[in-house]
Amino acid sequence: MISIKSTREIELMKATSALAAKTLEYIEPFVVPGVSTEEINRLCHEFITKHGAYPSPLNYHGFPKSVCTSLNEVICHGIPNKNEILKDGDILNIDVTTYLNKFHGDTNKTFLVGNVSPEIKKLVDVTYQCMRAGIETVVPGGHIGDIGAAIQEIARANGYSVVEDYCGHGIGREFHEAPQVVHVGKRGTGPEMKPGMTFTIEPMINLGLKEGKLLKDGWTVVTRDKKWSAQFEHTILVTPTGHEILTLRSEETA
Ligand code: MF3
Ligand code: CO
Ligand code: CO
Repeated sequence: MISIKSTREIELMKATSALAAKTLEYIEPFVVPGVSTEEINRLCHEFITKHGAYPSPLNYHGFPKSVCTSLNEVICHGIPNKNEILKDGDILNIDVTTYLNKFHGDTNKTFLVGNVSPEIKKLVDVTYQCMRAGIETVVPGGHIGDIGAAIQEIARANGYSVVEDYCGHGIGREFHEAPQVVHVGKRGTGPEMKPGMTFTIEPMINLGLKEGKLLKDGWTVVTRDKKWSAQFEHTILVTPTGHEILTLRSEETA
């Protein structure tokens, strides 16, 4: 069952999503060489709780921290750690999910740390383009498979691979709801998009092969070939005429 949010529920989704977006804006100046991912976790936790919300990842199926921090070859679900210090040329994805007034908002961004090589910068740029192309397909009467089809075309045209083991998801009163939003697919397949649906689009794009491997900590997913991976995520509302990005940051165009 895919939930359709009421007008009031949409207001609450907008509030929690805006706070998640604000958290990414707030943390940006701290994502510099010399800072630990634990410090980034602490600052995000403080910002989210100061605004009356709870960081959804904390204790979610036992996840030990308030945000996910995924560095370089980490595909997703990296755990903040005081011994993990950012260095020049790294890329760090920070994934923020807020729980405010009973609703979750979920967004992530891959940050460049200092001077990043052109090859890796291109991976990050194309990953953002992939997410935006997926978002562009969202319209009532469209199908969830349209999203993955658009993403996969751009990734493959650039010689990258799309992670298939983790996907986007419906979001609302639950962190992860139906439908699953796979980042590869065929146009016209999957559930039909209807006004009032809210879901994330969060492609993970790899420089090398798509396969990941779960580390012994039970959370961190790294690429099998150790090549680097990037991701962006937005929470999207299907509107009567198209869509709205609920986690839009001021640096972005609507
Ligand atoms: N925020 C992630 C997502 O985009 C999920 C993180 S689950 C956690 O769906 F437990 F690792 F926090
Ligand atoms: Co998500
Ligand atoms: Co997320």
